[in-house]
This record gives sequence, C-alpha cells and structure tokens, in this order.
Amino acid sequence: MLSELFIIFFVFFSSSFPCAISHIQASFGISGGFSNENGKVKGGFNFNASMVFGNTRLEHSFKALSAWKKSIIHDPFHMTANWDGPDVCSYNGVFCAKALDDPNIDVVGGLDLTGGEIAGELPKELGMLNDTALIHINSNKFTGNLPSSLTGLSMLREVDLSNNNFTGPFPMDLLNLPGLKYLDLRYNNFHGEIPKEVFEKDLDALFLNDNQFSGSLPKNIGKSKVSVAVLANNELSGCIPSSIGEMSSTLNEFILSNNKISGCLPEEIGSLREATVFDVSFNSLIGSLPESMSRLSNIEEIRISNNNLTGNVTSGLCELPKLWNFSFSDNYFSDEDSKCDSSEKTYDDRNNCIPSRPEQKSEDECSEASKQPVDCAKMCCPGKFHSGRQRSGDFKWSFSGNVTIGHDNSDRSNKLEREESSTGVWY
Ligand SMILES: *[C@@H]1O[C@H](CO)[C@@H](O)[C@H](O)[C@H]1NC(C)=O
Ligand SMILES: *[C@@H]1O[C@H](CO)[C@@H](O)[C@H](O)[C@H]1NC(C)=O
Ligand SMILES: *[C@@H]1O[C@H](CO)[C@@H](O)[C@H](O)[C@H]1NC(C)=O
Ligand SMILES: *[C@@H]1O[C@H](CO)[C@@H](O)[C@H](O)[C@H]1NC(C)=O
Ligand SMILES: *[C@@H]1O[C@H](CO)[C@@H](O)[C@H](O)[C@H]1NC(C)=O
Ligand SMILES: *[C@@H]1O[C@H](CO)[C@@H](O)[C@H](O)[C@H]1NC(C)=O
Ligand SMILES: *[C@@H]1O[C@H](CO)[C@@H](O)[C@H](O)[C@H]1NC(C)=O
Repeated sequence: MLSELFIIFFVFFSSSFPCAISHIQASFGISGGFSNENGKVKGGFNFNASMVFGNTRLEHSFKALSAWKKSIIHDPFHMTANWDGPDVCSYNGVFCAKALDDPNIDVVGGLDLTGGEIAGELPKELGMLNDTALIHINSNKFTGNLPSSLTGLSMLREVDLSNNNFTGPFPMDLLNLPGLKYLDLRYNNFHGEIPKEVFEKDLDALFLNDNQFSGSLPKNIGKSKVSVAVLANNELSGCIPSSIGEMSSTLNEFILSNNKISGCLPEEIGSLREATVFDVSFNSLIGSLPESMSRLSNIEEIRISNNNLTGNVTSGLCELPKLWNFSFSDNYFSDEDSKCDSSEKTYDDRNNCIPSRPEQKSEDECSEASKQPVDCAKMCCPGKFHSGRQRSGDFKWSFSGNVTIGHDNSDRSNKLEREESSTGVWY
C-alpha cells in the first residue's frame, strides 16, 4: 500500500509543469478583509495591484503562501527566499499540477519543504491551499498547534509533519480530511490520548512514534486498515487490545516498542498473517508467548526483548519460515527450543533464565520471577467484552469468547454496542 502512495506522489509531481499565466487580473477583496495600504495588506503580505495570476485558485494559494512566509521567523537555507510575486508555481517546494476538476488550469498540488530547518508556525491561511494533495514539511522547526482551517483541505492525501516541534493534543482536525491516506506525526511533542477515530479512518500508514502520547490504545485499533502502524517511543500504557487480530489482511508492520504496555500478548496476534515486523520490545509485558504466534507465516522480525515475559520459546516460533531476526533478550524465559539457536539467523536470547544458555540472569533473579506465575487466560485486556456478572473480588473473568470489536460485520458490532450500554462493560 505504501508503494501505491509513492505512485500517486510520482504521477502528481511528474505531471506538473510551469504555470500558463492566463492574464486574469488580480482583484482585491476576493476573500474579504484585504485593504491596500502602501503595498502592504492587512492580511499580512505584500500584494501589488498589478500582479497577474494564472487563475484565481493560484491567487488563493499566493495568499496562503505569502501569509506562511510572513509567519516564518527563521529560514536558514533560504528555502522561501523566492516566495514572492504571482508565479507561485515557481516557488521552491511548491508543485503545481492540472486541477483534477479542470484540466485547463494549474493549481498548487503539493508542498515539500523537507529538511529546511524552518522555524515558525502554520498560519490559518494555509486553509486556502484547498487544491493541495500533499504537504511534506518534515525536519523543520515548526511549532505550535495546527490551525483548524486545515480541515478545509479537501484534497489532502498525505500529511507529513514529522520531526518538527508541534505541540498540543492529537490534531483531530486532520481526521476530518476526507481523502487522508498517509499521516505522519512522528518526532513532535504531541501529547494526550490517541483518539479512537484514528483507527476508523481509512489510512494506509500511521506514524505517531516519538511523541508524548499516553493512555491506553483504543480498543477499536483493529478497525484500522493501515499496513504500517508505528507507535513507538510514547507513554502508552494498558494492554494490547485483542481486536488487533482484525488487522489480519492489512497489517504489515506493527511497532509499539518503548512504551509502558502491560498485560499479556493477546492470542489474536497469531491472526496477523501479513505481518512482517512485530515489535513490542521495551514494555512491561508479562506471561508466556501465545501459541498462536507460530501461525505468523510472513513474519521476518520479532522484537519482544526487554519485557517480563516467561515460559518457553518454542520451535513453532523459531522455525517460522521467513523469520530471520528474533530478539527475545532481557525477559524471564525459562527454556527455548534448540531450533532457536541457529547460526543462519539472528536470535538474541541473552539475559533470560535459560539454564543451558550463556549470558543469563542470576538464579536469584530467576527464582524470584518464577514465584509469580501469570495466567494470561485470567487477564483482563481492552477489546474484550465482559458480561458484567462477575462477583466482586472474584478474578475469574468470563469473556464471551467470540466477541471482539473491529470486524467488518456491522450487524455484530451494532449488537455489541447495545449490549455495552445495557448489561456489560468494555475493558
Ligand atoms: C508590482 O508587481 C509587478 C509585477 O510583479 C512589478 O513589476 C512591480 O514592480 C511591482 N510594483 C511594486 C510597487 O511593488
Ligand atoms: C477552494 O476554495 C475556493 C474558494 O473558497 C473554491 O472556489 C474552490 O472551488 C475550492 N476548491 C476545491 C478543490 O475545493
Ligand atoms: C520545542 O518546543 C518547546 C516548547 O514548546 C521547547 O521547550 C523546546 O526547546 C523545543 N524543541 C526544539 C528542538 O526546538
Ligand atoms: C518486571 O520485573 C521487574 C524485575 O523483577 C519488576 O521490578 C517489575 O515490577 C516487573 N514488571 C511487571 C509489569 O511485572
Ligand atoms: C520447551 O519446548 C521444547 C520444544 O519446543 C521442549 O523440548 C521443552 O521441553 C520445553 N520446555 C518446557 C520447560 O516446557
Ligand atoms: C536484529 O534486531 C535487533 C533488535 O531490533 C537489532 O538490534 C539488530 O541490529 C538486528 N540484526 C540485524 C542483523 O539486522
Ligand atoms: C459466538 O456467539 C454466538 C452468539 O452469541 C454463539 O451462538 C456461538 O456459539 C459463539 N461461538 C463461539 C465459538 O463461542
């Protein structure tokens, strides 16, 4: 699916060519609030009565880009130095293409200011770039919140804001973009919970890593159709929702390392038949590996190191046909199959409790851990529906086995919602 995006990207940019100026005279007041005072306009940019735009949509883009330039406080590589005058299609980082609804005119189809180290905020005027399908501004020093006017960018398919210093809660406005397929917010300072709406959006790729997102993973995570979900290096806690199994036909890479995820790995991860990379390392997972993991027939890399996992690493897992890098170091595994110690593959079993292997934990540490056995069948994880009839103090939770959310069967999920409000509760 990612390759599909790159094709879109390529077609878009390869079809762009210099704008044909068709001599439409610029007219003042087109979007209100503009008044000409000595060549300066209250909108905040230089505007000149004799400027000639290719078409009114380019003029809108000029206003947006001029306001943006005005809000930039530092541009060390002078990337926006030529952002002047009516020929917006010749601006650095601005890509024009034929309008989808009018092949006779050029419009601003994409923006790419990657690596500019530009500092400033995004002005609300960016909402006027409503022909733009791609905004890539990664590796800059943009700060602040995203303007809510971005909701108006109805053509946006790819938003890459990574490696900036954006702050605030998850930018919900982006989820209102009807065509959004690629959302990359990694390496910023977003905080708060990841909203459940993210997983209802028809995205191909989701990068939220290296922020300060906290709280539990929404239990509807399995509704997502992403092929890549990278949530690493946040403050996420709680269990991995069992609905993750519903991503079996689409999920290719799942990376949740270095959070505060607890509980057992759900049996349902065994359904992820398309997965090639599964990384939950550096969390607080407990219990043994679900046997279902030996069904991960496309898996190439498994990273479960640095948790509190126990039990046996079995041949079913170590012999998976495509697995070549399996790191389960820094846990409390007490045994591993001899197949796990293969010289052709990279297996890291260090710092466990496997008597037959070198570089293991001390006996004391291992015997301490073995005194606290974990029964994953009795663990309570999000995404499972509980009938709500348990006696208090009784930890024998009874799950209704085939009830998970996130599947395509809408009848069933409707039924579940009704049950939720009447007799039960979601964990
Ligand atoms: C107005 O724009 C035109 C065309 O870009 C330019 O030739 C002219 O010098 C500008 N006038 C002022 C006052 O900036
Ligand atoms: C963008 O906004 C302008 C002005 O509001 C409007 O005329 C134009 O049709 C919009 N374009 C798209 C693609 O929605
Ligand atoms: C990011 O912004 C915060 C304040 O919002 C500031 O303290 C921090 O230094 C900034 N980081 C970078 C890398 O600019
Ligand atoms: C993991 O093990 C360490 C060391 O025994 C212990 O301090 C910690 O509380 C354990 N964490 C969980 C989530 O069980
Ligand atoms: C672990 O599994 C292997 C086979 O996969 C088996 O030979 C071994 O006895 C098991 N160890 C324990 C403690 O169950
Ligand atoms: C295997 O995975 C580990 C853990 O992510 C990584 O550190 C190591 O570099 C990988 N090995 C190879 C050969 O890529
Ligand atoms: C799933 O739920 C249905 C309806 O509640 C029930 O009839 C069926 O036996 C259940 N199947 C399993 C495998 O638990």
